[in-house]
Amino acid sequence: MSDSKILSPTLVPPAEAAAHSSESSVVGEILGDVQTKKRRPDPTAIVIFGATGDLTGRKLAPALYNVMLDGGLAQPTVIIGVSRRSMSGQAFGDLVKKPVAEHSRQKVDPTNWDRFSGMLDYVGGEFGSDDTYIALKARLEVAKGKGTRGNRVFYLSTPPKEFPVILQKLQQHGLIERQLQRPDVPSCRVIVEKPFGRDLQTSRQLNEMIGSYLHESQIYRIDHYLGKETVQNILVLRFGNSIFEPLWNRNHIEYVEITAAEAIGIEGRGAFYEQTGVVRDIIQNHLLQVLSLVTMEVPASFAPDDIRDEKGQVLRSVRPLTLNEVANDCVRGQYRGYREEPGVARDSQVPTYAAMKLMIDSWRWQGVPFYLRAGKGLAERLTEVAIHFKSVPLVLFKEEAAGSVLQPAVLTLRIQPHEGISLRFVAKVPGENINVGNVLMTMTYADAFKRPISEAYERLLLDCMRGDATLFNRRDSVDRAWELIQPVLQIWEATPGVHFYDRGSPGPAAADDMIARGGHSWHELVKHP
Ligand code: BG6
Repeated sequence: MSDSKILSPTLVPPAEAAAHSSESSVVGEILGDVQTKKRRPDPTAIVIFGATGDLTGRKLAPALYNVMLDGGLAQPTVIIGVSRRSMSGQAFGDLVKKPVAEHSRQKVDPTNWDRFSGMLDYVGGEFGSDDTYIALKARLEVAKGKGTRGNRVFYLSTPPKEFPVILQKLQQHGLIERQLQRPDVPSCRVIVEKPFGRDLQTSRQLNEMIGSYLHESQIYRIDHYLGKETVQNILVLRFGNSIFEPLWNRNHIEYVEITAAEAIGIEGRGAFYEQTGVVRDIIQNHLLQVLSLVTMEVPASFAPDDIRDEKGQVLRSVRPLTLNEVANDCVRGQYRGYREEPGVARDSQVPTYAAMKLMIDSWRWQGVPFYLRAGKGLAERLTEVAIHFKSVPLVLFKEEAAGSVLQPAVLTLRIQPHEGISLRFVAKVPGENINVGNVLMTMTYADAFKRPISEAYERLLLDCMRGDATLFNRRDSVDRAWELIQPVLQIWEATPGVHFYDRGSPGPAAADDMIARGGHSWHELVKHP
């Protein structure tokens, strides 16, 4: 019988990892530097609508600051904040300095901050007022005079209800015009933040509305998960190695888990969350995008539309959920204490946790369950894809293995934190007898490449400035994602029934029961001390 430690199918923090004698490490040989292969963006004016909001301080400004430090921005780059509050460009800089210092992955020092704040400008005014756009136009002219050549990116980081008026006014004042983006004309692109609509109907309306002002080549629907290094690595792992693709199908894979667990709660965003809930916040976008990358067919090339075609194709093959399936295969939860948070209804039925089983009707995936789960207030922060391979057809060493847990191999793509990949498999425990144990082979980005992982928004902002839409969502896949979760939203919103779970727990027991009905289990979420 094996006395080897049964390791959980996950990555462990590096310090802990070193303690596991069964682990091997990987040294990353860097075969090419993507940064030098990628074109530096053209000089651009970036206009952020909703510039005094949370996203600018937490993500956008830190991302731009870090890209500047890494030498990724062209000279000149001008960043113009637009919000209701009136203030000077200098005051805007002072406002974002603190959150940038807090959220930047690299240190904010006075010299570099001066360089960064020198790029900042600000226009205060109502989104519906002509004065705002007259002032903005003047600032864009100044930017052009500095050398941005009329290239512009508008980032709509406002509640979606503001989008129509902003686009209408931008058009009226000649700041956007609908045209196919071509290298010989100044670029004009618009980044749209999620949530992209509230359901299929509103998403379609939003697409129609945006499409009436902009050509599809100008629309950048952002899903920051696609900018994560580890999410991009899904395609490199699958299509850059010949060993995985032959196994990547129903013949070898038993089931797949896709988890986005957060330990934090809703962090003061009660009013937003009450309108959104976990299905709209995480599953409709982030998790379905990850699912499409894990399951798509080989694209004809790495060109944006070839990849987006294949992603769209596999989402079209996901089987729509029936009423019964929503009842049996989908579980909603709410952490205890959510209803006491500011902005949350005392009898709220909004789920802060959801788990669901999806099936894909394709030649490759027929019969393989994909279990998706996402939630807040859980035991740990962990985003990962766990590919569970089938059991061996016959245990040849039955006696020796008797009593030991001979678990099938699991390949885990750890998206965050402790980014990396691990493979759990069975090995012989050294000794005279054939004792077997499960061992874990782990690669972490931190150890392998010894270079910091950049933030998703850094990559996405750069790509938009370069005109590369590969990591942005196309209209068809956004619509399809809404179509797929529509039955869940409709049924859950019409009938109460959240399962409560304690903060810091792995989620509602009903989700364990759901996956157990298929003979499977979740990778256990554990609270780390
Ligand atoms: C956002 C959600 O899209 O993603 C948040 O609105 C969530 O609720 C966040 O916390 C998680 O992002 P990340 O990059 O920390 O996994």
